[in-house]
Amino acid sequence: KKGEAWSARFSEPVSDLVKRYTASVFFDKRLAKADIQGSLAHAEMLAAQDIISAADHAEIVRGMTQIGQEIEAGQFEWLLDLEDVHLNIEKRLTELVGDAGKRLHTGRSRNDQVATDIRLYVRGAIDDISVLLAALRGALTDLAEQHADTIMPGFTHMQVAQPITFGHHMLAYVEMFGRDAERMADCRKRVNRLPLGAAALAGTTFPIDRLRVAKTLGFDDVCHNSLDAVSDRDFAIEFCAAAALVMTHISRMSEELVIWMSPRVGFIDIADRFCTGSSIMPQKKNPDVPELARGKTGRVYGHLMGLLTLMKGQPLAYNKDNQEDKEPLFDTVDTLVDTLRIFADMAGGISVKPEAMRAAALQGYATATDLADYLVKKGLPFRDAHEAVARAVRACVDAGCDLADLSLEQLRAFSDLTEADVFAVLTLEGSVAARDHVGGTAPRQVRAAIARVRAQLAG
Ligand code: ARG
Repeated sequence: KKGEAWSARFSEPVSDLVKRYTASVFFDKRLAKADIQGSLAHAEMLAAQDIISAADHAEIVRGMTQIGQEIEAGQFEWLLDLEDVHLNIEKRLTELVGDAGKRLHTGRSRNDQVATDIRLYVRGAIDDISVLLAALRGALTDLAEQHADTIMPGFTHMQVAQPITFGHHMLAYVEMFGRDAERMADCRKRVNRLPLGAAALAGTTFPIDRLRVAKTLGFDDVCHNSLDAVSDRDFAIEFCAAAALVMTHISRMSEELVIWMSPRVGFIDIADRFCTGSSIMPQKKNPDVPELARGKTGRVYGHLMGLLTLMKGQPLAYNKDNQEDKEPLFDTVDTLVDTLRIFADMAGGISVKPEAMRAAALQGYATATDLADYLVKKGLPFRDAHEAVARAVRACVDAGCDLADLSLEQLRAFSDLTEADVFAVLTLEGSVAARDHVGGTAPRQVRAAIARVRAQLAG
């Protein structure tokens, strides 16, 4: 009979199976810190509004302080019988401080309590993730700087397209993770509103001061409708959507790392501490970390779908369905935090092989567009230039050579506008240096982009 907070209403206890089925304490105890924080803010307001006495408030603070320490020390006894984190803590408080503990729940319901806890939790997660995204962007920017001049083939359709620099390629991910950080910051605005005061669903008869509680807990505002406050989890869904996009970017990058590290490509190597071997093939070194990150992206997408589906059929206001929001949310946060940490670290463990990249860039007629642009600058309409160069490439394919291997005379056979200065545009260096505008791959622009990112990260 330790548990039931509502036992007088019931004529028989729930079965052990139902108890286990409905309990959430073994996963929601993770919210303990937020729960105590929320309770302390609520109690402070109750005292300030003369709803409870100053003495009761002091007792609640004393009890909660001890409970916090017990939890921290791993000495708190979590009981399945007490269903969830909220009832476990409240029950212990009453054990420690008696009637003052029983007064804490005045004007409050677990419905607004849990909604508050989750918002505090998600807010903390967003803040942690924002720091980690910045660290990853910083690490990728460092790598970009080392390779602002390193030429590699850029691909479309996985076919060699045009030469780019590896630095430019890394900065593409820096942009993606930058938007992810913006999305997190934007999501935080909607997370950071206080449900407490909504009570079960309709508000409370006590003269509460919600804005005071909001201020104490660092919320920007209160939720303005009590039904909405306790029932919607859209803020958690939005967070998971932002997290899913982070993982999309992580996964694309992982795919590239895996391809680049394949001996068939050989563009990079990844430090041993991020790879593992094979139990049967002695020669193997596998890029496990990026592969696993690519795989873990699936579970984060799954959690987003799970939460959307959890929400879609629920009538207002609170329903027990919402207890199912926690595990997907926690796992999303854990997956993201670990992945971002590892990737920031791994960026420093990527060694680039410029010769292999260069050889690949030389293979696919990557400067064909440069030749067409050259002819346009000599007065040929672009469509005609495109056709002339296509014929030149075709001739090279047949002869098994590169465009730059053709003599001036041979090149002039495709367009007599061609002059001796053509060879400058056919080089890889000339090609990248010529794309010299904001967002282009020219090393000069890559360095400017690096400076912009650094300023952003510093400010
Ligand atoms: N453990 C519950 C949850 O996670 C707390 C709210 C319970 N409220 C209720 N009326 N059963 O959502």
